[in-house]
Amino acid sequence: MHENIRDLLPAECFSRGTLWIGGQWCCAADAGSFAVTSPIDDRHLMVASRAQATDADRAVRAAKSVATSWAGDSGKRSALMLRIGEEIRKHAQELGTIETVDSGRPISETTTDSVQHAAGLFDYYAGLTDKLHGSTVPMGNDTTALIEREPFGVIGAISAWNYPLLNAATKIAPILACGNTIVLKPAEQSPLVTLLLAALMQQAGLPDGVVNILTGFGPEAGAPLITHPMVSKVSFTGSMETGRRVAAAAGEALKGVILELGGKSPLVVFDDADLPRAASAAVFSTFKNAGQTCTSCARVLVARPLIEQFVTLCSAIAADLRVGDPSDPETQIGPLISAEQLARVRRLIAGVDARHVCEKRYRPVPGGHFFPPMIVTKYAFDSDFARQEIFGPIMAVRPFDTDEEAWQLANETEYGLAASVWTSSLHRAERARRLIECGIVWINCAHTLSAGTPIGGHKASGLGIEHGVEAAEQYMKVKTSVLMSGGWHSPFGMRSAST
Ligand code: NAI
Ligand code: MG
Repeated sequence: MHENIRDLLPAECFSRGTLWIGGQWCCAADAGSFAVTSPIDDRHLMVASRAQATDADRAVRAAKSVATSWAGDSGKRSALMLRIGEEIRKHAQELGTIETVDSGRPISETTTDSVQHAAGLFDYYAGLTDKLHGSTVPMGNDTTALIEREPFGVIGAISAWNYPLLNAATKIAPILACGNTIVLKPAEQSPLVTLLLAALMQQAGLPDGVVNILTGFGPEAGAPLITHPMVSKVSFTGSMETGRRVAAAAGEALKGVILELGGKSPLVVFDDADLPRAASAAVFSTFKNAGQTCTSCARVLVARPLIEQFVTLCSAIAADLRVGDPSDPETQIGPLISAEQLARVRRLIAGVDARHVCEKRYRPVPGGHFFPPMIVTKYAFDSDFARQEIFGPIMAVRPFDTDEEAWQLANETEYGLAASVWTSSLHRAERARRLIECGIVWINCAHTLSAGTPIGGHKASGLGIEHGVEAAEQYMKVKTSVLMSGGWHSPFGMRSAST
């Protein structure tokens, strides 16, 4: 399957370079490059251009030069975005294949969920282009304030390596709908699917320069976007550590920043829960994409009397999961993204009493960054393992004795991205909604999302929102005009023209 990469991406990516600036494929000004590899077997996939500040500057200027014309016609934007959604659906197989090879997400999900979700975002925001209108404020007899929303101009976007197609669509769709243009830097670990997306957008009729893609590394290609004077706002998805740096640079430049960061999300199972469903949710949430999901609810809190039964159920479900080559449609769990990520997960789990739960069907590919899915029931609650985001397939199960303790443990983290709560009590569901400090609470479900459902981190999980009308609102600025028809009177008085 790896051989196909050349057939799946535009030929110019190989002959000219992988920077997409002003509708043209080109290489970095200094001709720098880096190798893109597959997490499945560490195989070399292609050479990508390594953008630097001068390339970021070129991309921003290209985006700026078309910003006014792009902002002009919301109807055209809407029609174009619908066509992009169609192109994405038409090329599900190609997009899915690239995303699987480059990021390790199983092909059974990339050709279905990734593609449908990405296309759905373009559809949703296509419908919003003419609905992001303003309002009026009556200010007295002959005076009205018009409150309008206008695009910022150029948005600089930087994204994470997991779910790369969805991540790209999550940034591009609302940014375009609001009439902005964009320079997007996908993560260096999985940039390839964004290149095909660029080609499909062009095929759909996207004007040159409206979307620009910079392949490369954060400090070289991402950081210059944040400080560039023509970039009016920054949208970032990634780790908390990098998020802090991005926010500091944006703060120095007095720019707004949207941050979608990590999590350490709880899944809470009360004694009145539908236990088989709760267990299947815990397994799915923890092991989905090999645990590399920002909203993974792998910190599982269970009512003490149920804990043994719950772990037995989880282990039985996990035992049937196939871990291995994600290009195989039978596989549910693929590799971790990189050797660094594998080393990090190994470091966090060192010394913890963890049980491998997928032994029966564990088939790692030689050279790949595979880690066996595990369940942990005994660990030190103040350890790095207990506190840090793991981003690997490890479920940590911890008992609680009272409802109060459940809420307290759920919130015992600096993060606040998501939570999944399992109960048949309306009272507990209500309390979960009110008491858990996070951006999205799933009650008797998990990872249930749509393009219209806003999600954004509370606490150290971020600033701002993705998806929904709320995401679009962040990409427009408010302009107020005050119109007076009856004649303005200065408090200092005035003279008539004849005196
Ligand atoms: P990362 O923070 O290492 O990298 C994210 C992006 O930032 C990459 O494109 C990288 O090149 C860039 N970058 C690195 N240093 C930079 C700098 N100094 N200036 C500008 N850009 C820089 O994150 P990683 O490891 O790629 O992604 C995993 C993290 O992303 C996890 O913490 C995960 O929870 C989070 N994430 C959050 C999501 C959300 O919606 N809340 C969704 C997906 C991932
Ligand atoms: Mg890769």
